[in-house]
Amino acid sequence: MSLWRGTDTSGGRGAAMTDHPLGDLQIYRDMPALVKAGAEHVVALAQTAIANQGRFTVALSGGSTPRPLYALLASPAYADRLDWSRVFVFWGDERCVSPDHPDSNYRMARETLLDQVPIPQDHIFRMRGELDPAEAAADYERVLRAFFEMRETAEGAVPCFDLLLQGMGSDGHTASLFPGTEALRERIRWVAANHVEKLGAWRITLTLPVINAAANATFLVAGSDKAAALREVLQGPRQPELYPSQGVQPVNGTLRWLVDENAAALLGT
Ligand code: 6PG
Repeated sequence: MSLWRGTDTSGGRGAAMTDHPLGDLQIYRDMPALVKAGAEHVVALAQTAIANQGRFTVALSGGSTPRPLYALLASPAYADRLDWSRVFVFWGDERCVSPDHPDSNYRMARETLLDQVPIPQDHIFRMRGELDPAEAAADYERVLRAFFEMRETAEGAVPCFDLLLQGMGSDGHTASLFPGTEALRERIRWVAANHVEKLGAWRITLTLPVINAAANATFLVAGSDKAAALREVLQGPRQPELYPSQGVQPVNGTLRWLVDENAAALLGT
């Protein structure tokens, strides 16, 4: 299936899905190569955003895949390449737990990255998972409106993050937009409380209007357990209700898929 062609020279079997609605695909031989490419990508986008507009706004993803990326960004090889006083950190989604809970995406990012770099504490905007889910979602929307200086009544105005880091589950979900869940269909609110039946849990998540307003949306996907979903998302019929990652199609921004060989194993089959 000729969805893409190899173009990469940076340690991976790159692939540019030119004019494909699902963006640019870069395939890396293993996790270390993927994480290094991810770190270079984040630093490059941050440096450009800071140079052009004086700040870099990023919404982090949770789960396990980004842990080594955050740790690498916090290492001496990378931490000094960023002016952290110009970086503003948000989250794409959060579990409905306290900030010190082992499942907290905020806690994971704090431990791996934010406690290791000189980012001002008031540049860190966590989703308050400890609140009632609906209140946590409304609270975070207020945070976004205040930060991006958007009026309550602005029609059509949506915050534009410089970078939205996205993960993908083995069921094709992204952020906390799970197959068949209500938040997938949200087109007005920027943040939604989403009950995920399969988890028996509530989540807080950015909605597709915000995700698709990003200047750059970049997936980081690794592991053979993601291979079947990745093939469906990138090569299967368009059915974002079933594979929510297909719903990520930035209106004016870039879309990139940074994946390892294991996750890419079924592509083209
Ligand atoms: C979360 C994430 C979620 C994650 C995927 C992949 O809160 O869990 O934001 O969208 O990116 O579930 O998770 P892994 O990286 O752990 O496979």
